[in-house]
Amino acid sequence: MVQVNSNYLKLKAGYLFPEIARRVKEFSDSNPQVDLIRLGIGDVTEPLPLACRDAMKAAIDEMGTASGFHGYGPEQGYLWLREAIATGDYQNRGCNISPDEIFVSDGSKCDSSNILDILGEGNSIAVTDPVYPVYVDSNVMTGRTGEIDKAGCYGGLTYLPINSENDFSAQIPREHLDIIYLCFPNNPTGAVATHKQLAKWVEYAQQNDSLILFDAAYEAFIQGEDLPRSIYEIEGARSCAIEFRSFSKNAGFTGTRCAFTVIPKSLKGKTLKGEQVDLWSLWNRRQSTKFNGVSYIVQRGAQAIYSPEGKKQVKQLIDFYMENAAIIRRSLSTAEFVIYGGEHAPYVWLKVPSGMDSWEFFDFLLHQANVVGTPGSGFGAAGEGYFRLSAFNSRSNVEKAMARIACL
Ligand code: MLT
Repeated sequence: MVQVNSNYLKLKAGYLFPEIARRVKEFSDSNPQVDLIRLGIGDVTEPLPLACRDAMKAAIDEMGTASGFHGYGPEQGYLWLREAIATGDYQNRGCNISPDEIFVSDGSKCDSSNILDILGEGNSIAVTDPVYPVYVDSNVMTGRTGEIDKAGCYGGLTYLPINSENDFSAQIPREHLDIIYLCFPNNPTGAVATHKQLAKWVEYAQQNDSLILFDAAYEAFIQGEDLPRSIYEIEGARSCAIEFRSFSKNAGFTGTRCAFTVIPKSLKGKTLKGEQVDLWSLWNRRQSTKFNGVSYIVQRGAQAIYSPEGKKQVKQLIDFYMENAAIIRRSLSTAEFVIYGGEHAPYVWLKVPSGMDSWEFFDFLLHQANVVGTPGSGFGAAGEGYFRLSAFNSRSNVEKAMARIACL
């Protein structure tokens, strides 16, 4: 009989969002008349920007001609998209990132997992707690952890608690760690990092020869110009950080699929013998072997995000979801919930009422208000006692959900 990857058996029963979907389906099947409002998984609801749709339609027409047909594209992504990203997201903000340091992909979830392909198994790894579960699960699946304990923590991983006492920004560790996952604006807590906070991480990484895996999938939700949108806004980050970005949440590409990862050419790792190796070259090699790129049509759609109309339409989408977040914040505060986040992120993080744990509150909200959220404990042991509501839904659904919660 074939051997399985036993590391999968160490995983908690199910990935968080399918587990929520399973419970919701069970509830809907026995209550088919109920009008459920989903503020659980962070999946966008508003239509794709017109600029993106127009660009994709034009690309489809082009593909229908002999001269405009495209077969396999470059594994790194088309240069015109990488140029638009390098200029629009980095150089215009003073970050020294060039188009050839950008790898276009089909998602940050895949990239932040796949990056482990090029990193050795002996690295010490830190994640925040709570955390986007993909970082943890991908380490478990690849055999980089021990077993899970009663509290839900895996042996071999270092957990950095984030909570209201530290403003949801983990303390800089005293010990040496090789890889640190950071996500700002944060999923799930909605917290955002200042320049000063990120600079401390970059300083730590430089002093410890560590690698920061920086997930900036929610960068577009940052309000104002004072907060850093990229780790590369911090001096020295080119030598210690990889950044993941996505078009899922800013331009509504969750179903369309397009994202990118930035690996500066100056970023080095070392072999077991201590020889220095470019991470860029390894990722390029990995992508060339295992990935055939994102479709031409979708990349044309992504390029349109950087056009003047595209930028305007994406801003409208962000403003729309952030107004939803503001409504959620206001309503929950009035209902005397303790809340965090939702000011620079599409997620509001709240304390569950005393006497309930996160999953009990999930069931309570599902049954009593017919509202779906995400239990904080699904994001890690330190998420117990918290709950996440997403601002991704129509205005009327958000208002209706808040009115129902107010009546509980
Ligand atoms: C979430 O709800 O945390 C996100 O949808 C997860 C993701 O983007 O993969």
